[in-house]
Amino acid sequence: MKRVAVIPGDGIGIEVISEAKKAIQAANSRKKMDLELVEMDYGAEKYLNSGVTMPEEQYDDFRENFDAILMGAFGDPRVPGNEHAKDILLGTRFKLDLYVNFRPVKLLDERFCPLKNKKPEDVNFTVFRENTEGVYVGVGGIFKKGTPDEVAIQEEINTRKGVERIIRHAFQFAENRGLTRVAMADKSNAMQYGHNLWYRCFFEIAKEYPLIKATHYYIDALAMLMIKEPEKFEVIVTNNLFGDIITDLGAQLQGGLGLAASGNINPEGVSMFEPVHGSAPDIAGKNLANPVAAILTAEMMLRHLGYEEQAGWIEEGVMEAIRSNKLTSELGGKLGTRECGDFISGIIRTSK
Ligand code: NAD
Ligand code: IPM
Ligand code: MN
Repeated sequence: MKRVAVIPGDGIGIEVISEAKKAIQAANSRKKMDLELVEMDYGAEKYLNSGVTMPEEQYDDFRENFDAILMGAFGDPRVPGNEHAKDILLGTRFKLDLYVNFRPVKLLDERFCPLKNKKPEDVNFTVFRENTEGVYVGVGGIFKKGTPDEVAIQEEINTRKGVERIIRHAFQFAENRGLTRVAMADKSNAMQYGHNLWYRCFFEIAKEYPLIKATHYYIDALAMLMIKEPEKFEVIVTNNLFGDIITDLGAQLQGGLGLAASGNINPEGVSMFEPVHGSAPDIAGKNLANPVAAILTAEMMLRHLGYEEQAGWIEEGVMEAIRSNKLTSELGGKLGTRECGDFISGIIRTSK
């Protein structure tokens, strides 16, 4: 029996995870998976009512009793600093040491690409974002707060262990998939310590993979090339902050945040899966959110858990929704969140 913790979270997280669950259940009805979904109510509502974000014991529970975690999104206008979201999301990434943020950028249909004359084969790469270090560690402080002399320090932490393991993971992924190119992006021309470490580690590890072409870019140039020549990329590895930024950019190359899935992986332990998008308060509660990113996230999770066949059916369901334009409004469709999810689940249940 495999156990999955399902944490919808806030805003559209709740709406899209409901559709992702439907897709999992549809795949299960076609061929039974020995899978238990355990729903948990962490998020803004719980935080506002009880002050609890995610208790320390929960992480032990994940480690000991779960095979994966499926999350929606966190962020709520009633919590202006979104401290609960930081605690839950970054807490999970850090405490479970989910050092691989796996974010594929794959154009599923030409009509979704905002670039001229780019086809699915031109936009098909994977970003590996370091997920446990960088500027996300919360090291720093504020001195003389609120005064004209205020000083704010936000440190970026880069460790050799942390940098090496994500870079090695990216090369190993490329080798396993028969890919031939890995790009690394940093800002070592301005950040001469931390990013120099990235630069050196990248070329050291590249030597272990002589058949793979290793190319270094400065992050600004890489962002430009993602638009100009996305076909240049097969695998990109970068730090936590740059990875965050370029995966929203990458999501748009695919057709938007409504289509972008991600995994937060600990190759030796329990992993967490979530769409790239946030809680989208601007459209929350209106049945407008695109559930496809969450459904593709469920697909990614099922593959990770070894349910290849069921994952394949979910992918087919999404592809059929795309072919027949059974999509939400931001992609030019006429369906709401639930109706799009129902269509996809219907296909999963019945297609051959
Ligand atoms: P967002 O991703 O929530 O939304 C950005 C824009 O994309 C919005 O206009 C939104 O309507 C649109 N969008 C996002 N997902 C969509 C979907 N599935 N279908 C259709 N449109 C979609 O980013 P934001 O507005 O910067 O942040 C909102 C809140 O979410 C903040 O509190 C932020 O911190 C949080 N956030 C959480 C996560 C997470 O939990 N993983 C990720 C990103 C942002
Ligand atoms: C993401 C989000 C998070 C991040 C925020 C909500 C802290 O933008 O998962 O991409 O920056 O990692
Ligand atoms: Mn982000």
